[in-house]
Amino acid sequence: MDMALKTPQLVDSKLTDQFGRTVDYIRLSITDRCDFRCIYCMAEDMTFLPRDEVLSLEECARLIKVFVNLGVTKVRITGGEPLVRKNALWLFEEIGQMEGLKELVLTTNGSQLWKQAEALKRAGVKRINISLDSLNPVRFKQITRTGDLKQVLGGLQASIDAGFEGIKINTVLMRGSNDDEAMDLVQFAIDKKIDISFIEEMPLGEVNHARNSTFVSNADTLKLLQSKYSLLPSTETTGGPARYWRVANTKTKIGFISPHSHNFCESCNRVRITCKGELYLCLGQEDKIDLMPLLRANPNNDAPLIAAILDRMMIKPKGHDFDLRRAEPAVVRFMSHTGG
Ligand code: 5AD
Ligand code: SF4
Repeated sequence: MDMALKTPQLVDSKLTDQFGRTVDYIRLSITDRCDFRCIYCMAEDMTFLPRDEVLSLEECARLIKVFVNLGVTKVRITGGEPLVRKNALWLFEEIGQMEGLKELVLTTNGSQLWKQAEALKRAGVKRINISLDSLNPVRFKQITRTGDLKQVLGGLQASIDAGFEGIKINTVLMRGSNDDEAMDLVQFAIDKKIDISFIEEMPLGEVNHARNSTFVSNADTLKLLQSKYSLLPSTETTGGPARYWRVANTKTKIGFISPHSHNFCESCNRVRITCKGELYLCLGQEDKIDLMPLLRANPNNDAPLIAAILDRMMIKPKGHDFDLRRAEPAVVRFMSHTGG
């Protein structure tokens, strides 16, 4: 299609980055706090951000609204643990009502679901990812340091009863800790008719255990599971680093999230916003923009915010051959105009 013939409004309706990838999915962290202290995620004594350095829930809602108006159709709320944030439900209710949004989803450690699952379903949450690294209560406590397995399993059951469209367990396997539980966790998912994803451990944050010795590769886990289950490769993708397999004759899908492989980048459709309002275009890069000052300096005007987002996201004319093929001059002018 000749982009030059398009009106600015049409071009404006989508967030496109410099590689022509359309961003229709945002992940927003609404708190850095958590009631757990998982060994691969946090240190035992954590210092969290002061409240005024974290986006208010109203600012979160405003930001999401701006992105939905720019064409985002899927929003994932994450943390920390999002459900420990006071009044988090209010935000889910606000986002659930936004026109143009197709999917509101949540990543949680499951500790609050026993009391919040139903209200989250009513607010419009479609799918939930629940972290679950062990079915053994003693181990679960060792890994999460503070978590109560019974409470999380109760929350998982409450979510199944609430009738979400999808529930998925997220599991991080660590050698010498829970790497013998891959089969049991898969069987648990099959019995509960839910999905499970294995996430390879990533070197994030300051964590005091030696990762080289605990790393379990998804290739090994897949091999192990194939010795017991008949797994059918699935072409399904959510645009991220996960590859899926169906377990034959069950309702269960197994995902393998291998953050160390980069072969998903060309289809990457997501950006991340931290609870401080930093917009990260890629998990693997430091490149970010601070949206909080723009939100706070312009309480009644979204234009500067939108301009900053578009400026950063849209097709940039320099650098790559394929940029030049994609970006017709008229569009480039429009973009730099918008950004300026
Ligand atoms: N490596 C891999 N997965 C991690 N998670 C948190 N920290 C790490 C890490 N360092 C997982 C949690 C949760 C998911 C959202 O991310 O276990 O399931
Ligand atoms: Fe980190 Fe999630 Fe564990 Fe909390 S529950 S410590 S956010 S991995």
